[in-house]
Amino acid sequence: MCSIIGCIGRLNVAPVLVESLKRMEYRGYDSVGIATIDNGRISTRKGVGRVADVDKSLNLIMMPGQIGIGHTRWATHGGVTDKNAHPHYGCRAEIAVVHNGIVENYKELKEELVHLGHEFKSDTDSEVIAHLLEQYYAEQKDGTQAIIKTCKRLKGTYAFVAAFEDGTLGGSRYDEPLIIGPVEDGYFISSDILGFLPYTDKAIFLDNKDIVVVDRHRLKLYDSDGNPVNRPVTQVAWELAAIDKGKFTHHTLKEIHEQPHTIMIAATQNREKINDFCRILLDSKTIYFTGSGTSYHSALVAKHILARFAKIRAESIMSSEFQYALDSLDSSSVLVAISQSGETADVLQSVKTAKQMGAKILSIVNIPTSSLARISDSFLSIDCGPEVGVAATKSFTGQLSLLYSVVDRLCNGRVDYEAGKLELVDAINDVLASETEIEKVADRIRDAKDIYIMGRSIHYPIALEGALKIKELAYIHAEGIAAGELKHGPLALIDKNSIVVIINPRDGTFDDNIASAHEIKARGATIIGVSDEPNDVYDIFVRIPSVRDALYPLLEVVPFQILAYYLALRKSVDPDYPRNLAKSVTVK
Ligand code: G6P
Repeated sequence: MCSIIGCIGRLNVAPVLVESLKRMEYRGYDSVGIATIDNGRISTRKGVGRVADVDKSLNLIMMPGQIGIGHTRWATHGGVTDKNAHPHYGCRAEIAVVHNGIVENYKELKEELVHLGHEFKSDTDSEVIAHLLEQYYAEQKDGTQAIIKTCKRLKGTYAFVAAFEDGTLGGSRYDEPLIIGPVEDGYFISSDILGFLPYTDKAIFLDNKDIVVVDRHRLKLYDSDGNPVNRPVTQVAWELAAIDKGKFTHHTLKEIHEQPHTIMIAATQNREKINDFCRILLDSKTIYFTGSGTSYHSALVAKHILARFAKIRAESIMSSEFQYALDSLDSSSVLVAISQSGETADVLQSVKTAKQMGAKILSIVNIPTSSLARISDSFLSIDCGPEVGVAATKSFTGQLSLLYSVVDRLCNGRVDYEAGKLELVDAINDVLASETEIEKVADRIRDAKDIYIMGRSIHYPIALEGALKIKELAYIHAEGIAAGELKHGPLALIDKNSIVVIINPRDGTFDDNIASAHEIKARGATIIGVSDEPNDVYDIFVRIPSVRDALYPLLEVVPFQILAYYLALRKSVDPDYPRNLAKSVTVK
């Protein structure tokens, strides 16, 4: 989603803002804007495109002033145009605003403000915040009061930062993150700790509806009625700032290659924390897993291995559907929410609803300071470092690695994941070493219009995940299919132009898959086998090493990540930043 940053300090602020926005660009990247205050005057530059491009064309870094705000946008209301890019103003250039979230009642507010004589320049919901602030600021010239009154009018979700021409910055949040980074000679206000992490490892997380007002010397925090409040200073991990691409051309490729390391890290948990997590699971009568996108696919694997090894039944429900499936949830239930960012709106909504119904909340995150971690009864972190590529790769295998460790504990080591993870590291390294072979496969299927990916049992979630990677990165229609369902519909789609990938390591699903492959071959499709065992039925064979049955999901997903990456390159698409998507979807 959008990223917002405010900064007040002694340095020239524009280059600092531009660098912050680049670090947070994964949140949204269709347009960019900056406003700085210099000699009591606010000036703005904004435009459509990625931060580096807009900086190049508008010379953002040359904007004067030591106080400023910045924004990268992921459009929700209003097209991707210069005028819809943030910051937004009221009618005069007294207050500039950057916003993340959705103002649900913006139409009513806009009508009311237009009636009062305000003129709107954009099609965004965000602009109403600027006009409301302007309206209330005009009454008393008091920024804090203007923010308090404005927030009371907003319905929906928001995090915003406003720059007032008197040199103060102020903002508030509701269900969108807003974090303060105190530095020696000023403050940052940001939607992500990455916004300020190179400058400080201290962070102050605002509660919902908190209001912040800063000038160079002072930070003031208030509740929604204007009563002063204190929020603790949290120490955050510096490592999260490490987001360079190293020797790789893209973050996505680097993150794919980090997986042998990150699955080890994720499986290394503090003993007390993992015990506490497992105790809550064991004490519950019903277990639900939830997540969105790739994290939902982890939830599907979790359900499978929990039943298979620990003989515990669980439900996995995608977060966007969770609110419609609550009938059997109560205080004896536990919801395990899985989310890389810990900020996905649908996941947070599921958690809030489950909490209201008395359920306990466990979470698996990559950002221990995220909203999800903070509202959970207990959480575990996969600690795989920042994942910048919009398509999840290392966070997926990290989540699985952690889930295997949890299940291993619940079933007294029957998964034998201690040994299993070492086996996996070697096997994943082998797959990574065959990258050029997979690149050649991408060459052969680069013009495909439809790719079907089939798998049974524990491989089915990977069929879904493989298809998601290809859709996200290469913009090719791809569908994950439970192989046994082929004859109940999908076979009608198969013809000589179809590409069908069969996930088929030698396990209990192998023979049935080979039978399905013959049915497909008879219809003229090209068949790609992903397996540890070749077979005549495959037109293209992608070899993966043999590992014990239960571990295949962590291994067999890697060729799909590599394939999707190279398909994106063949289509001249930037794999790190696919069109229309955002890494962290903080709106419903
Ligand atoms: C977005 C991203 C996906 C991710 C999903 C869930 O859709 O583009 O890559 O899987 O959000 O994100 P989360 O941070 O909750 O795991």
